[in-house]
Amino acid sequence: MARGSFITIEGGEGTGKSTHAALLGEALERAGIDAVVTREPGGAPGAEEIRALLVEGDVSRWDPMSEALLHYAARKEHLEMTVIPALIAGRWVISDRFADSTMAYQGYGHELGRGTIARLHELAIGDFSPDLTVILDLAVETGLERAVAGHEDRYERMGPEFHRRLREGFLEIARLEPGRCALLDAGQSIEDTQAAIRRLVGDRLGVDLE
Ligand code: TMP
Repeated sequence: MARGSFITIEGGEGTGKSTHAALLGEALERAGIDAVVTREPGGAPGAEEIRALLVEGDVSRWDPMSEALLHYAARKEHLEMTVIPALIAGRWVISDRFADSTMAYQGYGHELGRGTIARLHELAIGDFSPDLTVILDLAVETGLERAVAGHEDRYERMGPEFHRRLREGFLEIARLEPGRCALLDAGQSIEDTQAAIRRLVGDRLGVDLE
């Protein structure tokens, strides 16, 4: 059986990643593709426990490197327990965030640097990489306003400068890896952004999505 495709949806706060991951999963199912929608940090029992440590509590709760290590501990669990078994079974996996979030948030936001995060990535998960990464881009102020309209978590309290740095991080990732990544404007309506995502998945991964 052919291995499934692995799609990741990335971006800053309030860009609509979860909504678009769910809608893309439904579109794939309508096209007859068995799809799993999952998220990071989380997506497996141990990883969900680690998530609670990361998203709750004081802003300065973790040293930046400790925080990056926790994200990679959660990611390794998610990969081993959820993502890789599904791909091997021929299912497609859509993850709301993956490794680019650690590069953007811890590498750029917390300024650990690209090289440090790349070494950590190599050590923890080697050269495993998504087939396609959609990066949703939005002005920081608009995103934070949308995000804090719900429950404000630890990252949303980190301040606009942190969020500006991580937005630049995502833009740089998109520039450096155009073969894997595509940058989309998340300032449009949900319908227009979702239509752009479906076209992209159709073009890059050879499926016909309505
Ligand atoms: P969520 O709110 O998108 O579900 O994600 C939880 C928070 O975790 C979000 O504010 C971004 C942050 N995060 C990182 O800082 N590094 C990572 O590697 C991941 C996956 C998420």
